[in-house]
Amino acid sequence: MAIEQPATRPANPRFSSGPCAKPPVFELSKLSDAPLGRSHRAAVGKAKLKAAIEGTREILGIPDDYRIGIVPASDTGAVEMAMWNLLGERRVEMLAWESFGAGWVTDAVKQLKLDAEVKTADYGEIVDLATVDTDNDVVFTWNGTTSGVRVPNGDWIKADRAGLTICDATSAAFAQNLPWDKLDVTTFSWQKVLGGEAAHGMIILSPRAVERLESYTPPWPLPKIFRLTKGGKLIEGIFVGETINTPSMLAVEDYLLALDWARSVGGMNGLRERAYANLAAVQAFVAGHPWLAFLAHEPAIRSNTSVCLKFTDDRISDGAAFAKAVAKRLEAEGVAYDIGAYRDAPPGLRIWCGGTVETADVAALMPWIEWAFEAEIAALSETA
Ligand SMILES: Cc1ncc(COP(=O)(O)O)c(C=O)c1O
Repeated sequence: MAIEQPATRPANPRFSSGPCAKPPVFELSKLSDAPLGRSHRAAVGKAKLKAAIEGTREILGIPDDYRIGIVPASDTGAVEMAMWNLLGERRVEMLAWESFGAGWVTDAVKQLKLDAEVKTADYGEIVDLATVDTDNDVVFTWNGTTSGVRVPNGDWIKADRAGLTICDATSAAFAQNLPWDKLDVTTFSWQKVLGGEAAHGMIILSPRAVERLESYTPPWPLPKIFRLTKGGKLIEGIFVGETINTPSMLAVEDYLLALDWARSVGGMNGLRERAYANLAAVQAFVAGHPWLAFLAHEPAIRSNTSVCLKFTDDRISDGAAFAKAVAKRLEAEGVAYDIGAYRDAPPGLRIWCGGTVETADVAALMPWIEWAFEAEIAALSETA
C-alpha cells in the first residue's frame, strides 16, 4: 500500500551542512557590485576585504584588540595555519569528538610529531572538559559538524591561562555565542553558517596569540601560504585585508551580502534565535516519534546547526543502508538534499539548522522524514 505523502514541501530543500543554504534573500544578480577583473590590491578591492573583516567583527562581537584575517584554504587552511605557527612552545591537549577534530589530532601527532595529550569522545558526546588544563595549549572544535554536538560554554577555560586555546568554530560562528575572552585563535569558513562561498577561511587572534607569534618560532618550516609573521613581527597587513595571496572578489561580495542579511535579521542574536527555532522544530518532531533520536543525547551539548539524528527502530538491521535509503528517497522527492550522515559518522540523518535555513522548511521536512521512514520500513518487510 502506498504511504500517503505530506501535503507541504519545504520551499527550499537545501539542508546541507556545508556548503550551507544561502541566505533567503540571495540572488546572483545581487553580486553585481563585485570588482571583478580588478586587482584585490586596488582601493576598491581592499575596501571590500576590509568591510568583510569589520562586518565579521561587528556581527560576532569580536573585541577591537583582536586581529581578524582572511586566509586561504577555507577553515582547514585557518586551523592548519594556527597549529603550524603556534604549537610546540608548550604541552598540547588535543580534544576530539568527531571526524574534523580527529583530523586535527592526526596532524598534531603525525605531522607535527607533538607529544600531545589526546582526549577523545564518541560520536554524540564530548570529553570531560573539567579535565582540560588550559595552562597547556588546547585545540578543539566548538561545534562538531559530523556528530551534532557542541561545547556548552567556555567556563572550563581559565581567564588567566598560560596556554592558548585554538578553536575550530566553523559550524558554531554566527549560530552560537563564542566567549572571545576565552578564545585565543578562532577559525571558520564562509561556506558554513552564513551560506557563503567556499575557499576562504577566517582566523581570529587574541592579543595573547599575537604575542606567541612574535615570541616563538616553530622548529619546522612554514610555507608562504601559512606565514603570519615576517622578521619576528606579525604581518599586520593580513588583518586589514592585504591577503597572503589572491582572494575571489566574487566570494568576498557574496560574504558581504550574507553579512548584510545577518544584520537584517538582528545580527548575532537574530541568527542564534533562527538556529534555535530550527532545532526546536526538529526536537518537537523527535519527541513524538520513538524511532528517531538525537545522536547528542544530552541537550546541553546538542548543536543548533548540524543536527544529527539516528534511527532506533528494532526492525532495522542494516542501519547504514536504511539511513542512506531514507536520504535518497527524500532527495529523489526534492524535499531534502544532502542530509545523509557524514561518511565517518554513525548512520543517520544530518539536518542543517543554521540561520539561513527557514524554520517553516525544517517543519515541512519533518513529516517527509516520517513518510520516507515508513516507506523504507514497508520495503524491509517486502524483502524479508
Ligand atoms: C568542524 C569542521 N572543521 C573543518 C571543516 C572543514 O572546512 P572547510 O572545508 O571549510 O575547510 C569542516 C567542514 O565541514 C567542519 O565542519
